[in-house]
Amino acid sequence: MKRPVAKLATLILPLTISLTLSLTLIAGYAGVASAASGKCNIAVKGASPTARACAKGGRDDAKKVMKQMMAAANANGGKFSCEGCHNDLETFALRANAVEDYKKLQAASGMK
Ligand code: HEC
Repeated sequence: MKRPVAKLATLILPLTISLTLSLTLIAGYAGVASAASGKCNIAVKGASPTARACAKGGRDDAKKVMKQMMAAANANGGKFSCEGCHNDLETFALRANAVEDYKKLQAASGMK
């Protein structure tokens, strides 16, 4: 009676391991995908135009709003660039000056 159980265990164990592995892979991939697009993870509170866009349509909408705001501010004599405030355009990690400069950007753009 012991042998069939042992046999079953040798079947189930590799199965469990490979299942766990593929779940980990899927979760990892989903993580990468949401970092590249999808939800915002910086402008997640407050009521700035960017935060409102994030709440509505995630990073895609946030990018649109930031582009509009920058274009309007630069048309009013500003010299803003995405990289002036963001380390890169994938994570959008903020530079040290970003939060202070955002106030100037928003004021220069005239956006509310
Ligand atoms: C003057 C500084 C400044 C400039 C220029 C700027 N940003 Fe931003 N950006 C910020 C700040 C600050 C936030 C966070 C806003 C908040 O918390 O409400 C932000 C947030 C974002 C977010 C949301 C990210 C997240 O995950 O929450 C995106 C996307 C973004 N910016 C894209 C851009 C793009 C694209 C450009 C160029 C067209 C740009 N930004 C130009 C300062 C700037």
